[in-house]
Amino acid sequence: MDPLARARELFERARGELDAATDAASLERWRVAFLARSGEIAKAMELIRELPPELRRDYGRLMNEGRKDLEKRFKRKKAAFSDSSARRGPLFDPTLPGRPERRVGHIHPLTSTLDRIVSIFSRLGFGVAEFREIETEYYNFDALNIPSDHPSHDSFDTFYVRDDIVLRSHTSPGQIRTMLSRKPPIRVLIPGRCYRPDAVDATHHYTFHQCEGLLVDESVTFSDLKGCLAIFAREMFGPETDTRFRPSFFPFTEPSAEMDISCPFCSGSGCSICKRTGWIEILGCGMVHPAVFEAVGYDTERFTGFAFGMGIERIAMLRHGIPDIRYFQENNLRFLEQF
Ligand code: DAH
Repeated sequence: MDPLARARELFERARGELDAATDAASLERWRVAFLARSGEIAKAMELIRELPPELRRDYGRLMNEGRKDLEKRFKRKKAAFSDSSARRGPLFDPTLPGRPERRVGHIHPLTSTLDRIVSIFSRLGFGVAEFREIETEYYNFDALNIPSDHPSHDSFDTFYVRDDIVLRSHTSPGQIRTMLSRKPPIRVLIPGRCYRPDAVDATHHYTFHQCEGLLVDESVTFSDLKGCLAIFAREMFGPETDTRFRPSFFPFTEPSAEMDISCPFCSGSGCSICKRTGWIEILGCGMVHPAVFEAVGYDTERFTGFAFGMGIERIAMLRHGIPDIRYFQENNLRFLEQF
């Protein structure tokens, strides 16, 4: 083929491919293929040496003009690309479907249950205080009138860190810390994590949570306790909820009681969850024992008070119908995403 015709063909092909380039990357590939130092145009330029002298002038002119033309087109296109992609055009394609980037988190059911407890009691004037999980034996037991020969001191029932240092086995030491740091009137909730060396099963765990309550004032009576906790039960489990108080024993309260609620699953008619009794125990409570007031230097003639303690897991299990306490600790999303 005539070298001039071949050169024209080359330029035509180069223009076609340049027109077909759709982005900065293909434009650059085009530049390397045609305009770069070892590209097709440079190679075609070298052919001039092999041509008969009478052709060289025309060939040289054609090549020079053609290359200049390509360079001009290339520059124009390059500018258009950077215009549209960097300055004017959209940075992303808004018509593409969205990518599911981050999963939405949930409040843990124990946290939401505690939040509910706190919100109910806050309307009765209770604030919240939190204390340490590593306690002295004195605060965990002795100041609460739990004598040193009481079985709960036993290392089978309490984790010992050192001789006289324990992982708190209940939130009741918070009663002592609260009363030592302020004067009555007191209305406080003390929530937190507790520890006991219990074998793990559907209702026991070595790590669990309690919420303690303490109210101290002048002339507080057992009916204040009953009224307050009955309001809590109805707010927590529904307005139909009945409560009953059974005599019990705790060293730090006198008299002591356990509060039952009418079974929220069968409304008291008897089912497998309430073991056909119609009642479910939800907390321990009582009037603060004078020995506890003495331990914190309160005037036992002037002040009376009541206290209560409940397991947050237990309340959450009843509230949501959760059958096994272990679910709270497993971080299984199929469980957690339900709340
Ligand atoms: N501390 C008790 C426990 O862990 C629960 C309890 C019972 C707390 C009666 C109280 C109370 O404040 O009055 O089993």
